[in-house]
Amino acid sequence: METKKRIGIGKAHSKIILMGEHAVVYGYSALAFPLKSVEVVCRVMEADHILIWDKEDPLSTAIFAALEQLGIDKAYLTYDIASTVPERRGMGSSAAVAIAAIRAIFDYYQADLSEDLLEDLVNQAERVAHQNPSGLDAKTCLSDLPIKYSRQTGFEQLDLNVGAYLVIADTGLHGKTKEAVQKVANLGDLAQPHLEKLGELAEKALVVTCPTAFGKVMSQAHRHLQAIGVSSDLSDHLVATAINHGALGSKMSGGGLGGCIIALAASQEQAKDLAKTLEKEGAKQTWIERL
Ligand code: MEV
Repeated sequence: METKKRIGIGKAHSKIILMGEHAVVYGYSALAFPLKSVEVVCRVMEADHILIWDKEDPLSTAIFAALEQLGIDKAYLTYDIASTVPERRGMGSSAAVAIAAIRAIFDYYQADLSEDLLEDLVNQAERVAHQNPSGLDAKTCLSDLPIKYSRQTGFEQLDLNVGAYLVIADTGLHGKTKEAVQKVANLGDLAQPHLEKLGELAEKALVVTCPTAFGKVMSQAHRHLQAIGVSSDLSDHLVATAINHGALGSKMSGGGLGGCIIALAASQEQAKDLAKTLEKEGAKQTWIERL
């Protein structure tokens, strides 16, 4: 345990929900997509003071979960985080930061870390960040492939190949997942038909055979998310802008009341044009991924 590196390094990527947000809370399926180009890097280094656990802080909890696992109770170390994942946008920032930090600790102490143990430690930090996380963020931030999740069937890796490009646009506004989930709960029976449809659309997205049909499913989902009151004016504006500029489909993504929208483009060229237009129309940042 005493053969430490000078600097321990850990990396992790972020994620975005493609379909099924909110419906997943009620037992339906959700699909999440790893954003491998949007990354967090954590560095761990020696320090002259003992690290103190802030039990309210998910990152600190991740670090201490890793240290405890390694049997280290007094750690003279410090860490820093370099992240391109904006916080509280439904991009799995807290999970990605926890994964990077745990990997960095294990790298620093030159210890082996299995994927199962890593997921378990990350979920300890996610419970501090989100109280009752489904584990979908952690799973997708740990996966190179898209993930399907439902309470009944658990997690499944997907070999999704839509043959199109996904544009992710950040409204720059913090998503308010807790508030949005409560808003839907307050709607009671009024939300039920929309949640059922959102669940059906998540399943349908997996069986459609062309990008146009996938896009249509996304746009239908957006209308149901609007109907349960979890979109925002800027998200609606960006979704409408994407459609008016030729996107095959578009929707908000994640908990909502802010956060990100996603749009489907037929080609990389179109995706680049869409990204530029969305930035002109208020998006703070955009990313493009092959889907
Ligand atoms: C938040 O990213 C997704 C929601 O479905 C909440 C959840 O699944 O815990 C809104």
